[in-house]
Amino acid sequence: MLFGEGGKVGPDLTGADRKNREYLLTQVIDPSAVIRPEYVAYSVQTRDGRTLVGVMAESTPDAVTLVDAKAQRTVIARDRIDVMKASPTSLMPEKLLDALTDQQICDLFSYLSGDGGP
Ligand code: HEM
Repeated sequence: MLFGEGGKVGPDLTGADRKNREYLLTQVIDPSAVIRPEYVAYSVQTRDGRTLVGVMAESTPDAVTLVDAKAQRTVIARDRIDVMKASPTSLMPEKLLDALTDQQICDLFSYLSGDGGP
């Protein structure tokens, strides 16, 4: 999320250190280098053989709620979980900039460090 727009998966970037280009670049190029504890991705294998990966939006004695990379929420009852593991890799994809031209990367970073104007 930035300036009230986007998907609710990772942290809201509006209040992040967005003028700091080195910080932004590091996070975008290597998302797994630094992951805040509340955004660690978990992989859950269920007793019926499904595997889900997502950040943990909620955790109660009865169930965990995962939000996957497409912002889809899934509530999984704890008694249906076979294995749950914290992942060393971020849910945020790598190589996000590879599909962009140099001009698009410049535009993206100027948007990211800007004040929400066009
Ligand atoms: C160009 C697009 C994107 C930019 C500029 C961006 C930027 C960032 C930044 C700066 C952070 C660090 C925030 C902080 O901890 O202070 C972050 C974290 C995160 N982002 Fe993204 N992101 C992008 C795309 C995505 C996408 C597509 C996903 C979907 C899965 C995603 C999911 C996450 C998650 C889960 C975190 C927290 C874990 C971590 O720090 O690696 N991001 N993102």
